[in-house]
Amino acid sequence: MSTASQASFLVRPIQVADIPDFHRVLDGVCRERKYLAMLEAPPLEGTESFVRNNVQMDHPQFIALVNGQLAGWCDALPGESTHGTAHIGHLGMGVAKPFRRQGLGAKLMHAVLDKARDKGMVKIELEVYASNTGAVTLYQRFGFEEEGRKRRGRFLDDHYDDVVVMSLFLDT
Ligand SMILES: CC(C)(COP(=O)(O)OP(=O)(O)OC[C@H]1O[C@@H](n2cnc3c(N)ncnc32)[C@H](O)[C@@H]1OP(=O)(O)O)[C@@H](O)C(=O)NCCC(=O)NCCS
Repeated sequence: MSTASQASFLVRPIQVADIPDFHRVLDGVCRERKYLAMLEAPPLEGTESFVRNNVQMDHPQFIALVNGQLAGWCDALPGESTHGTAHIGHLGMGVAKPFRRQGLGAKLMHAVLDKARDKGMVKIELEVYASNTGAVTLYQRFGFEEEGRKRRGRFLDDHYDDVVVMSLFLDT
């Protein structure tokens, strides 16, 4: 019988074949209604074109597998060169609830930041709800700092939340 101590962890770039599992895990985290702006995943076709584009463009998007099961993701997608924002990666991530606090988020973050740096990005930005203290703690551990906050930036399920804008410079 497999135990937690025997679990195998793998972090690798996402592949097209991962799309259905990625969609399912993304949808699960969305439906928790606490952490992501979306309350459910986009339709499968939308997720598919998103991932296909990331694979084709070699954008930093990694997944974590536990015993072969997709358990989380992290991506840092660059802005548009025509907008002058190609040097900035916008970071998003999530780990399925049963797999949290096992080090996957940190492994995913290392992989994505390394690749973002290799790809020439100089700044990573993200937005996180102030109530999401676990994620904020993770980001701070990686050196992200608060740039500002949109006060009462979300009102959902009878609660206001601030949206905290955080960033990390990769070239300092
Ligand atoms: C945020 C999230 C991705 C972290 O992933 P994770 O795999 O649980 O994180 P890790 O186990 O690698 O934790 C690394 C460190 O981050 C911090 N951390 C993570 N979750 C924490 C929590 N709930 N409370 C306090 N600190 C936390 C700790 O410093 C932790 O190190 P430690 O376990 O040695 O104390 C995960 O909690 C998640 O998916 N949350 C829901 C989705 C979400 O919030 N996405 C980000 C939206 S901006």
